[in-house]
Amino acid sequence: MSVGGPKHSQKGEEYLARSQRGHNERIVGKALADVRDDVVIATKLFLDGGFGGTYKRIRKHLDASMDRMQTDFVDLYYLHRMGSTPVEDVAEAMGRLIDEGLIGGWGLSQVDVDAIARAHAVTPLSAVQNIYSMVERDVEDEVIPYCAEHRIGLVAFSPVASGLLSGKVKSTAQFERVDDVRTWVPQLSERNLAANRPLVQMLEDFADVKGCTPAQLSMAWMLAKWDNVVPIPGSKNKGRILENLGAAEVELTKDELAQLESALDGITVYGHRGFTH
Ligand SMILES: NC(=O)c1ccc[n+]([C@@H]2O[C@H](COP(=O)([O-])OP(=O)(O)OC[C@H]3O[C@@H](n4cnc5c(N)ncnc54)[C@H](OP(=O)(O)O)[C@@H]3O)[C@@H](O)[C@H]2O)c1
Repeated sequence: MSVGGPKHSQKGEEYLARSQRGHNERIVGKALADVRDDVVIATKLFLDGGFGGTYKRIRKHLDASMDRMQTDFVDLYYLHRMGSTPVEDVAEAMGRLIDEGLIGGWGLSQVDVDAIARAHAVTPLSAVQNIYSMVERDVEDEVIPYCAEHRIGLVAFSPVASGLLSGKVKSTAQFERVDDVRTWVPQLSERNLAANRPLVQMLEDFADVKGCTPAQLSMAWMLAKWDNVVPIPGSKNKGRILENLGAAEVELTKDELAQLESALDGITVYGHRGFTH
């Protein structure tokens, strides 16, 4: 489970009053209080200045997160974004937190192979959380293969492209205006939503034959393609959360995977989010 502030991007942070940050961690703490030992919790920190050395600053964030989540241990602790602190210093501090038994492992988010390698050399990484979906495939070139080789999990965020790949997004008019990331996801601009229709249609047709939903198919695809990839879809809707969990039950044959790959290769994607947010 991925948890943290209500919206993780720096852009999203601008919308949030300080008092609201950590809101999701409070919800998670309350929800999981009775089953804490049966679940794995992941959360992130944004290293935004502060006083003292790197360890001290990270520890302060971790203590606050643990307090909000009513736990004394975080299974997987991520740095949300690379910043001015050298990643080697962050890695060293994370290693100390692992030794102290406060976190089980650590991860980075939206990083390239250079950062991953530098960090991993100091304290082995458990996971890298980067954007990955059928419309955001940059990580396929280097990041996923590197992570596979070094036994690092790739946690795919925005795996259904913020709803696009579910086929349910019909118009940008349905988005909330305040902090809904879909208002700036490039594939979902009014123009690109129409231009990306062939991709969604292909998914709908394929999913129909397979007997699953387009969102499930979009995640079954990455699960079938890689051994070290785990998608983390987001939803505020119980039915869709259960639907998305069902992606793990959709098994694609080698032939089906090849058909999907070939179909994807033949379709142009309009809009690219990449590493900007
Ligand atoms: N590391 C980072 O920098 C970073 C950045 C962004 C996000 N994340 C994390 O990644 C996870 C998911 O990312 P995300 O929420 O941006 O993108 P996503 O999972 O690709 O899409 C979520 C959006 O799609 C809709 N949706 C999800 N499943 C659906 C389905 N089966 N049918 C129809 N609509 C569906 C949701 O609407 P409803 O709520 O109405 O279902 C929501 O608006 C979250 O845990 C988030 O915290 C991490």
